[in-house]
Amino acid sequence: MKVTVVGAGNVGATCADVLATREIANEIVLLDIKEGFAEGKALDIWQTAPINLYDSRTVGCTNDYARTADSDVVVITSGLPRKPGMSRDDLIATNAGIVKTVTENVVKHSPNAIIIVVSNPLDVMTYCAFLNANMPSSRVFGMAGVLDTARYRAFLAEELNVSPKDIQAVLMGGHGDTMVPLPRYTTVAGIPVTELIDEARLNEIIERTKFGGGEIVKLLGTSAWYAPGAAAAQMVEAVVRDQKRIFPVCAWLQGEYGMSDIYLGVPVVLGKNGIEKIIELQLNEAERALLVDSAEAVKGVMDVLDNMNANA
Ligand code: NAI
Ligand code: 2OP
Repeated sequence: MKVTVVGAGNVGATCADVLATREIANEIVLLDIKEGFAEGKALDIWQTAPINLYDSRTVGCTNDYARTADSDVVVITSGLPRKPGMSRDDLIATNAGIVKTVTENVVKHSPNAIIIVVSNPLDVMTYCAFLNANMPSSRVFGMAGVLDTARYRAFLAEELNVSPKDIQAVLMGGHGDTMVPLPRYTTVAGIPVTELIDEARLNEIIERTKFGGGEIVKLLGTSAWYAPGAAAAQMVEAVVRDQKRIFPVCAWLQGEYGMSDIYLGVPVVLGKNGIEKIIELQLNEAERALLVDSAEAVKGVMDVLDNMNANA
C-alpha cells in the first residue's frame, strides 16, 4: 500500500511517522512545497526504523507529484495557520488556493486514491477538495471528528480515572465551537456515561472539548499535531486494512439528517472504498437543534468559498 501525505509540517510529519511506525503502509511519500523540507523529515522518520523495528519506507520530495503516483490514500495537511491581521476570509482564500492546486495534482497522478483532508477550516477545505477532485464523495472526506472525539474521551478518562480504551463516544457537526458531543451515545465499558458523571460536570467536559483546539493553541502558540496526526493515520488504517471502523468523519450529505449539499461531521463506516455507509442516528429534538446550528455555521463558511469561486 502506498500513502502520500501532502504537507510535511507538524501534522503531516506526525501522520507519516505514525503510518510508518505502525506499518500501516509499506511506502509513505511526504511532499511539501518548501525545498528539502519533506526530504529532511522523511529521512529522520526513516532513521527511526532500526530503533522502532519496522520496515515501512518513508521518502520525501519537494512538490514532485510524479513521486506520489498511484497512491492508494492521500492525506492533505498543507495550509497556513491563521496569522495576526489575517481575516477568516483571507485564510479561506489562501488555504483554498493551496488545497485546490494540491487536489488537482494528486488526482492527476493518483486517479484512484482516497483523499483525506486535514487542512483548516476543515469542513470547507474538504468541500474545496471535493469540488476539484471530480471523484465520488465517498472518496473525499475530512478528519476532525476522530480528533475531537479523542479529546472528549481523554478528558472523560482523566475525570473517571479509567483507561481511555474503555471510553466510546460519538461527536457530530462541524470542526469548531459548534461541534456536537452526544452524551446519550457516550459509554464507559458499556455503561452510559450519565450514570458515572453528574450533568454539570459532564457539561464542563463537553465545553472543554469544543474549545480543545484553542486550549492547545493558547499553550503552544500554534495548533496541535500529535493527536491530529495520529487521528488522520487511524483513518488511513481503516481504509488500507478495510477495517469497517465506525468513526465521525466530515462527509458530504445528500439527504442524511435532512441535510443536503453540505460537508458535516457524521458517523460513518470506513473501509477500502472510503465512506461505505453514513450512519443516521435517531437524534432527539435538542441534539438535532445543535446539529442544525452547527450545519448553519459550516454552510456560512462554505458560502464564502462559493462566492469567491463565483467572483473568480
Ligand atoms: P504547518 O505549518 O506545520 O505545516 C503546513 C505545511 O504545509 C508546511 O510545511 C508548508 O510548507 C506546507 N505547504 C504549504 N503550501 C503547500 C503546497 N501548496 N503544497 C505542499 N505543501 C504546502 O501546519 P500544521 O500544524 O501541520 O497544520 C496543517 C493544517 O492542518 C493547518 O491548516 C491546520 O490548521 C490544520 N489542522 C487541522 C486539524 C483538524 O482537526 N482537521 C487539526 C490540526 C491542524
Ligand atoms: C485543532 O483542533 C486547530 O483544528 C485544530 O487542534
